[in-house]
Parts: sequence; C-alpha cells; structure tokens
Amino acid sequence: MTPQEAKARIDRLSHDLEEHNYRYYVLDTPSISDYDFDMLLEELIKLEKEFPQFLSPDSPSQRVGGMVTKEFETVVHRYPMMSLANSYSREELLDFENRIKRQVGDDFEYVCELKYDGVAMGLTYKKGKLVLGVTRGDGTKGDDITTNVKTIRSIPLRLKGNDYPEDFEVRCEVFMPLEAFAKLNKEREEIGEALLANPRNTTSGTLKMQDSAVVASRSLDCFVYGVLGEDLSFENHYDAISKCKDWGFKISPYTKTCKSIDEIFAYLDYWDNKRHELPFETDGVVIKVNSFRLQNNLGFTAKSPRWAIAYKFKAEQAATTLNEITYQVGRTGAITPVANLEPVLLAGTTVKRASLHNADQIAKLDLRVGDTVFVEKGGEIIPKVVGVDLTKRKPDSTPVEYITHCPECGAELVRREGEAQHFCINDMACPPQIKGRMEHFIGRKAMDIDGMGSETVEQLFEAGLLKSVADIYDLQKEQLLPLERMAEKSVNNLLTGIEASKSIPFERVLFALGIRYVGETVAKKLARHFKGIDALIAANYDELITVDEIGGRIAESIIQYFSDERNVEIISRLKEKGLQFELSDDQQSQASDKFAGLSFVVSGVFNGFSRDGIKEVIEQNGGKNIGSVSSKTDYLVAGENMGPAKKEKAEKLGVKIVSEDEFKTMLDS
Ligand code: IVH
Repeated sequence: MTPQEAKARIDRLSHDLEEHNYRYYVLDTPSISDYDFDMLLEELIKLEKEFPQFLSPDSPSQRVGGMVTKEFETVVHRYPMMSLANSYSREELLDFENRIKRQVGDDFEYVCELKYDGVAMGLTYKKGKLVLGVTRGDGTKGDDITTNVKTIRSIPLRLKGNDYPEDFEVRCEVFMPLEAFAKLNKEREEIGEALLANPRNTTSGTLKMQDSAVVASRSLDCFVYGVLGEDLSFENHYDAISKCKDWGFKISPYTKTCKSIDEIFAYLDYWDNKRHELPFETDGVVIKVNSFRLQNNLGFTAKSPRWAIAYKFKAEQAATTLNEITYQVGRTGAITPVANLEPVLLAGTTVKRASLHNADQIAKLDLRVGDTVFVEKGGEIIPKVVGVDLTKRKPDSTPVEYITHCPECGAELVRREGEAQHFCINDMACPPQIKGRMEHFIGRKAMDIDGMGSETVEQLFEAGLLKSVADIYDLQKEQLLPLERMAEKSVNNLLTGIEASKSIPFERVLFALGIRYVGETVAKKLARHFKGIDALIAANYDELITVDEIGGRIAESIIQYFSDERNVEIISRLKEKGLQFELSDDQQSQASDKFAGLSFVVSGVFNGFSRDGIKEVIEQNGGKNIGSVSSKTDYLVAGENMGPAKKEKAEKLGVKIVSEDEFKTMLDS
C-alpha cells in the first residue's frame, strides 16, 4: 500500500468508526455488529502502526487508551466553573422566581434539566476537534485529563456538520451508568476487592486514573449541559443545547422548557417519581432562565449564577420491620450480612432485602431484630438500611450478635486486623467458596471454558465430580453422560472447551487461580516479572514488592496463598494436565527486567518499531511508559519529527534523550 492509499484508507476508517461510535453510544441505534466494528478498528490501528505519520490525535483508535499520565497538568479555566445554589423546597423556588421577576420582569421562560450526579468537565473544541478536557478543580483551575476524556465513547473527538464555532467550550457531566457500576462491583467482589461506594465517587476516581486503558474499560458516559464561547449565535440555552446534539454530543432527552412555576412543579413531581427508572443517577433538577440576554442581565453572585438554581430531591425512604439478618459467603470467604425485611414499596419496587455491609455497620446502627428500620435507595442496586425508628423499638429487644461461625460450613470466622469484613477461612471445604472459585476459574477473562457455566458447576459439584478446579481436567465422558441435561453433544462441547483451555496463556491461568487481590492486571505484571509459576511460588515478600504495582497487601496475599500446601498441590495437578504455567517462548525471548524502575516517554516516528511496538518492548522489559516529560522521567526516546516542546522540556529538566539506535543498544546490552 502506498502512503497515499494508506492515508485515504485511514481517513475513511476514522470517519466510519466515529460514525458507528456515534450511532452506538449517542443515538443508541447501532448499524453494524460489535465484531465488524472491532475488525474495522483493528484495521485502523494496524495501518496507523505501519504509517505513524498519519496517526491523528483525534483518531478513533485513541479511544482504546493505553497512554499513562503520571501527573496531570493544571490548567486555568478560560471561564470559571461555578456551582449552583441549592434549594430543597417549593417555597425556595418561589423565592427564586420572585427575585428574577423583580430584576427582569415577567416575560421569560425556564429550562428544566435533570441534575446528573457525576463529575463536571469542561471540553474545549478548536476547529471542530477536541483539544482539551479539564476537571472542575477549585473552579478556577483544574486538571488536564484529555487522554482519559478521549476514551469516553459518547464524547465526540471530531464534531459533525460545519456550523460549530471555531473555538468554544462545552460544559458537561461525566457519569457512570448504573449497569456499568454494578458490573464493576461484581468484578471487584470476585477478586475480593472492597466494593465501590457509589457511581459518582467511582467516576471521579476513574477520571483521575493514570492508565487511560483502565478508564476506557469503565464505560463512562456524558451529557452536555452548557456552551461557552465568544461569538455564539444562539439566543437561548435550549437552542444551544439542541445544537450540541447536531454537532454529535449526547444530551439528555429529558430537558424541557417551562413557561411557569407550575410547569416546573409538575416536572419535579414527575421526576421525583420516575428517577429511579433511569439508567443513571440523578439527585435533583436544575432550573435555568432560558434567554441568554436575561441570563446576562441577572449575572452572578460570587459563587453561582443568579439565573439558575438546583432543586434537590429528598432521598426516598421507607419504614419497615427487620425480620431477620442472614449472612452470605462470597468466593473469597467474605461474609456479607443481609437485612431481611417485611416487604415494602420503595421508589416503585418492592424491597425485601437490604445490604448491611459488615459487623461495624450493624453496631453503628445498633440494629435489633424486630426494629422498624428506614431503608433508602442510593446508587447501589440493592437498597441500604440507614437508620432505626427508636420510638417503635420493643422494650425486650436485644442487640444483634454477629455470627461467629460460617453459616455454610460451620467453620469459625476470623476478622483480620484493619479489615471490616469477617471471613470464613475454611476455603477448601466451604461449598460457596469452592463453587465461587470454580465459576471464577472458568470465566471468560480466565480459562474461558466453552460449554461450562455456573449451572454446570453447581450440577457437577452436587454430583460430587468437582471438589477443586483441578478435577475439571479429570472429567470423563462416561461420568457426564448419565447426568441430567448432559446429552452427547453438550458433553462433547464441554470436553472440547476444557481441552482448549489448556492453551490459555500463563497470565490468565494465574488470574484464574483466584488469589485474593490478584486481578487481571496484577496477574499480567506477575507473569511478566517471574516468567513462571515456580519463581513466583519461591518469591519472598521483598521480591514481590519490587514488582511494579505490587504492594504489601497483594504480596502478603500471594505468600499466604502459596504457603497453603493444598493450593500448591492443585497447581501441580493442573501442570500435569498441561495448563500453561510459564510464559510462552515468544514472550520469554522478549522479556527481561532491564528497564525495571525506569520511566520512558516515547515520541516521534521510528524506523524499526511502531510507537506502540516500542512501548510494548519497554513494558516487557520492566519499564513504564508515561505520557509527558517530567522531572521523574528517566528517558525520552526520540524518533523523527518529535515535537520541539517535549525535547526542550527534557533538556531543561536534564532528562536523557536517546535515539532509536541508542534505545536498541540499551535493549541488547
Ligand atoms: S449547570 C454555573 N446543569 O451540578 C454552574 N449543572 O452545583 C452551571 N450538574 O458542577 C451548572 N447536572 O457538575 C448544570 N443539568 C445540569 C447539571 C449540572 C449536573 C452539576 C455540575 C455542577 C454542579 C453545580
């Protein structure tokens, strides 16, 4: 392919991919399959690697992430990011209206919008391209998190049409949809990580992550609620927001113009009821004067605009009786207490159970069986108990005594110092732990065993065929055929799936073992560092914590796991069956520790590598890639056409600049 042809194809693919992206994430009407989308994206990434001179900062390939930013730069907002005055009652809204009327008269209309519960962002577009994404910060200056923002699929990297201003900013709320939040917490529960409290804090934490690939995996979303610029041609807020939709932004479909305070009250009533059916969190309504001319007349106080106000919904609560506390046992042995309630209607659904988190929570609430408790629906899918109606407490009630033994296997529970959760440590004989570990082991991101799901695990466990994950590889056709729902075809599928899993690479096998705190990324780092299971088993605490991203908590968990003979025995059986417990030859030949502890910035175009290729080599040899030059950078690997600003900054900070040839010498030495 000639460079010219490559350029044309890259342009075509970029355009088509952004269009498909828009149809999927903004319009919700996809027109190609996920598979076809991935194929086009793969083709684009491959071409951009081959012809890096045509890689544009607004290419759809940037949405995949992969850039690591050590420290986000602080940026001063062109327009300060103010907050809104809050109100909690209709009287306060009447006061708001009267103040406005006194200043600008009677002839105006409002716009009502939902108040999205996420993180405020300012996005700057120049010539239709996203050039900057900044957090609110202190309102005057915030963090430049553009690399992370680019991974949010509903934020356009290039605008549609041709009537957008040359240089302008949109204000928006980035949030995590409830479904994505629930999925993330489920994954965390599986590896024994503490659960995230709510979608808002999770969004905020995600946006500040250094690794944009992790941000890309978190399914963040965004609604635009404001436009700022010098020569905007709109007369009012509603038109401005509607125009944003034409330019490719996602705007909420629930925005409404209101002519009177009564219409506003109707909007509040409607959404106070319906908000629980939305796929995202909202904590109120924002009421804005529509006309920009009147907004200008009304102006600002020191903190907030006089032309807008937020109305906060009261958290919806219901009172009901606590009938019983039961206890669930997770895959890692973590015990979760659950409140079993007298069924009660809350925010449109009947609530029978509520989460109680841990023993401290129960003690803090001083809960007693028979109490009348208040339950509330927050960001979590399962509601929580927030308080007790002491006026209704029965005189003979006694405080809840937390269980001391596992409800599933009877073993004594332990609570380690500094941890809130109690654990059943009888992991080899406690049924939900065994089944949970097996489900994790066969999962898509682990051994990915086709033909085996959680029902099969349950069935084979009950039939006495599976006691540990190693038993999976001993299963025989004759044992399976007599079982219910096990026809010849499904048995064959299952056995083929099991056989195929033997070629799953080491890092995934390591993840599949289900060592507490060893998620996908940690497993990858460990596999690359130790190259095989024997070295990992032999590693002591000090060796473990030298590995990038492995701290004391993870190191201790790994040591504890391998100090249990039974785990080592399972691994040796799995090894015998042919599972991968070492890096492949290909991975081995490239991997070393020679760049351990060193940070690299890669910039420009290279002859022998693509830019991603060089980064991959750095990581495989223990180094870290970072996005921008700082005093903590060890090397700037300089290709052709490197930006002069990066070079200048590196020289100023005394960062070593190495050419492609010098880098190769470092690699071969
Ligand atoms: S307008 C001058 N509209 O609420 C501020 N804000 O306290 C104008 N928010 O930080 C903000 N939904 O992040 C506006 N529909 C909406 C909003 C909204 C959520 C957030 C925003 C801001 C905070 C204001």
